Amino acid sequence: MLTVAVLISGTGSNLRALLEAARHPDFPARVVVVGADRDADGLAHAEEFGIPSFTVPWHEHDSRESWGEELGRQLAVWTPDLVVLSGLMRLLPPALVAEYSPRLINTHPAYLPEFPGAHGVRDALAAGVTETGASVIVVDDGVDSGPILAQERVPVLPDDSEHSLHDRIKPVERRLLIDVVRRIATGELPLNTASSTLS
Ligand code: GRF
Repeated sequence: MLTVAVLISGTGSNLRALLEAARHPDFPARVVVVGADRDADGLAHAEEFGIPSFTVPWHEHDSRESWGEELGRQLAVWTPDLVVLSGLMRLLPPALVAEYSPRLINTHPAYLPEFPGAHGVRDALAAGVTETGASVIVVDDGVDSGPILAQERVPVLPDDSEHSLHDRIKPVERRLLIDVVRRIATGELPLNTASSTLS
């Protein structure tokens, strides 16, 4: 059984979808802990599902490295096979990326390498494209630059706002994330070769 730690900053709707999938007896992975960089609303999903959680508040640390060291200590308690960044709105320090990558994956609301960064939905709208998408990637030292594990196109509608477009992208992100975690757990998607075969 693949053990998964999920890190969030926000509402955790993608986390919730993974928790729902993972409670099915046939699903080959289990979420063992949820972590956040703030008092995130999404931590309530962990509580509801009886999953332990922790918070490492960003503002209590004076550097990314110090925050990352504490995050690493908290994660290490659970020895997760896989760490999923699901709306964590912070870059991890290189030391933590080195420790977990390629067993460290991220969901992104755009069709990477298009529109990386914190505002993938807004940037796609501003660019006037007619389609954007959702991606699941391995985290590396860049910003949304790691090997792509799965992605799918989502059309941009003429009257879309950032909110309406993001609301249509998120269900696609969820489906891709659940499928990627399942395929990692079954060995169908071998992460140790991800950087050489999937980029
Ligand atoms: C997702 O679109 C994620 O890719 C982005 O933030 C959103 C998180 O949504 N970085 P939620 O917290 O899972 O509802």
